[in-house]
Amino acid sequence: MSPDAITRRLGILISGRGSNLQAIIDAIQDRRLDAEIAVVISNRADAAGLQRARDYGLATRCISHRDFTARDDFDRTLVAELRAHNVGLVCLAGFMRLVGPPMLEAYPYAILNIHPSLLPAFPGVNAQRQALEHGVKVSGVTVHLVTPQLDGGPIVLQRAVPVLDDDTVETLSARILVEEHRAYPEAIARVLDGRWQISGRRFIPATPARR
Ligand code: GRF
Repeated sequence: MSPDAITRRLGILISGRGSNLQAIIDAIQDRRLDAEIAVVISNRADAAGLQRARDYGLATRCISHRDFTARDDFDRTLVAELRAHNVGLVCLAGFMRLVGPPMLEAYPYAILNIHPSLLPAFPGVNAQRQALEHGVKVSGVTVHLVTPQLDGGPIVLQRAVPVLDDDTVETLSARILVEEHRAYPEAIARVLDGRWQISGRRFIPATPARR
């Protein structure tokens, strides 16, 4: 697949509560996002997001990483399932597994991730705690294309969120989450728009993005 092959059939990968999945469902229903969810895949059977997806009548699959000894085999199974549903754009939404070579080769520049910090600050897990402990006054959300580098692919969209003096990890995470839910559907729409190119590590829309 090349970026040209990106289609409006989304495959959403989750591991947990699925509030970003919900935001994407809402954006499609409200016609803010012209796309359809072809399948929701979780690596955990107990992910609350799976039930959300079922409630909306979406196709769901559980593929547990624990059933595979080789990581690539897990990835290959994901690819097979995504292809079986004709997925053209993969959206990681709280998917807590690293994406490996089989996925990256099957969906080059066609996998999106959402991360709760202003990358490249605070990659990896517990981004909100990292930001709070570092003492930054502004954090935020990043939606980026996935490459082999953890949380390091071309940035599609970022939104800043203030860090308040009396913030806890919970209050900061909640404020960032509100912005995540706005940012993810918007970033997906930008990618589906198709008029963009990658230059170096930059995602450059044909028409400059307006806020
Ligand atoms: C979000 O904070 C997202 O940025 C991060 O994992 C969390 C997933 O939350 N990658 P949810 O499952 O979408 O509610």
